[in-house]
Amino acid sequence: MDDRPFVIAPSLLSCDFADLRGEVARAEAAGADWLHLDVMDGHFVPNLTIGPPVVERIHAAASVPLDVHLMISAPADFAGAFARAGAAVLTFHIEATDSFAEAREVISAIRAEGVEKVGVALNPDQSVERVADLLAEVDLVLVMSVFPGFGGQIFLPDVLGKVRWLRERGWDGHIEMDGGLNAETLPRCAAAGADVLVAGSAIFGAQDLEATISGFRRSASEAREEESRVR
Ligand code: DX5
Ligand code: ZN
Repeated sequence: MDDRPFVIAPSLLSCDFADLRGEVARAEAAGADWLHLDVMDGHFVPNLTIGPPVVERIHAAASVPLDVHLMISAPADFAGAFARAGAAVLTFHIEATDSFAEAREVISAIRAEGVEKVGVALNPDQSVERVADLLAEVDLVLVMSVFPGFGGQIFLPDVLGKVRWLRERGWDGHIEMDGGLNAETLPRCAAAGADVLVAGSAIFGAQDLEATISGFRRSASEAREEESRVR
């Protein structure tokens, strides 16, 4: 059975932005393994969020790794700024590139900035084969389970097939899932093979963050065990 530890990554998109320091501390005290930061440019997605200066201040306030999800049209142009701001994991969208060669250039540009992990993200309507030839060059594949841009959307279960495809093909790196994860959908992600589980509204909207995160971790492990028993 897969024994990699689960990474629970609260998305700060659903936190109280007027109290970022307090929300970072609250998420960390509740057991967050990484903090997921959603960067949107108003072009790649129809929403605007935070840029490098805010990531830098979050980095100064945080003690867990920052997982920066770039939903921007020109990822290579900003890789350096987000790396310097403190991203440990830097993920760009394959849809932001026009060719395989360009995707490889973005990966090299991010890698050159010295971040710990490079990720490539895939929208729900993209075939997983689009990233197949890049797997040797990345550390993480982010399988989006909603169309990016907003928190609080409904999970799209068809994307689970991509997670299974990656594991069946022997992909041993991180598989992250993001969008619509909650007590019902998160165990299904874990059973399919995802190990990095992002949740925004389900964590920051909960009464008890610690109970929610530990409940997610427990249900993910149980779902993985159950899956290995039936296989
Ligand atoms: C969506 C973002 C997500 C978002 C998830 O564009 O990439 O990280 O915060 O929010 P929930 O968990 O509420 O679907
Ligand atoms: Zn995200």
